[in-house]
Amino acid sequence: MDKTKRKAIIAGNWKMNKTPKEAKELLNAITPLVKDADCEVIACVPYVDLSVALEATEGTNVKIGAENCHWAESGAFTGEISTGMLKEMGVEYVVLGHSERRQYFGETDETVNKRTKAALAAGLKPIVCVGELLWERECDITEEVIARQIKLDLWSVTEEELKNVVIAYEPVWAIGTGKTATAEQAEEVCAFIRATVAKLYNQEAADALTIQYGGSMNDGNADELLSKTNVDGGLIGGASLVAEKFAAIVKAASK
Ligand code: PGA
Repeated sequence: MDKTKRKAIIAGNWKMNKTPKEAKELLNAITPLVKDADCEVIACVPYVDLSVALEATEGTNVKIGAENCHWAESGAFTGEISTGMLKEMGVEYVVLGHSERRQYFGETDETVNKRTKAALAAGLKPIVCVGELLWERECDITEEVIARQIKLDLWSVTEEELKNVVIAYEPVWAIGTGKTATAEQAEEVCAFIRATVAKLYNQEAADALTIQYGGSMNDGNADELLSKTNVDGGLIGGASLVAEKFAAIVKAASK
């Protein structure tokens, strides 16, 4: 497999952190540090920060993403945000199916699929998150869990649409816990995801797919994780809130 066929992508997932004022400060600190990046750099920020984030990154190489979107164009869905709303603002990426959405907000593979289809139809690029629980890993069903998520989350996504999809492998037990998957564990599952996509689509489509690792990735372990053949980038939570740490990960991905 040829890693050079794929674009490395480092994306920050800010989760429920940073007010608009703080978002502006953080992005003003990040942008000069990552300006020479040889990878794609994204900050996925809370909805209320999108406007200032787009402004703060205008004319820079940092792209902005949202952290979710609804599948309907509009309607009676209190608290939800449509793809059209994001698109009109100039948002390019959207995180979908994050384990925190699945765990705390009833997100299922069916709703992740609906959101993914809607995002793609609107011209947004979804970062679709998959990952096993600790219990599932211990029961040795990681591959079954991941294959099921990939099949369901990407159901009816065309090969053409797949070109705009990023997959983030985030073992749930490694998120925000300080427990990073070893580089070998990350590589094993990212390779399995690619093989699954090759079966569903074809090898060429699978080879072109960017697969990120996420889960306590930081400036100390990024080098090793990103050196793996099938790890094409990272979805970064905690470390994306500290400009220097995030920039160091971007640097590791630029090598
Ligand atoms: P973490 O979060 O880097 O804080 O573990 C990653 C994520 O949830 O995307």
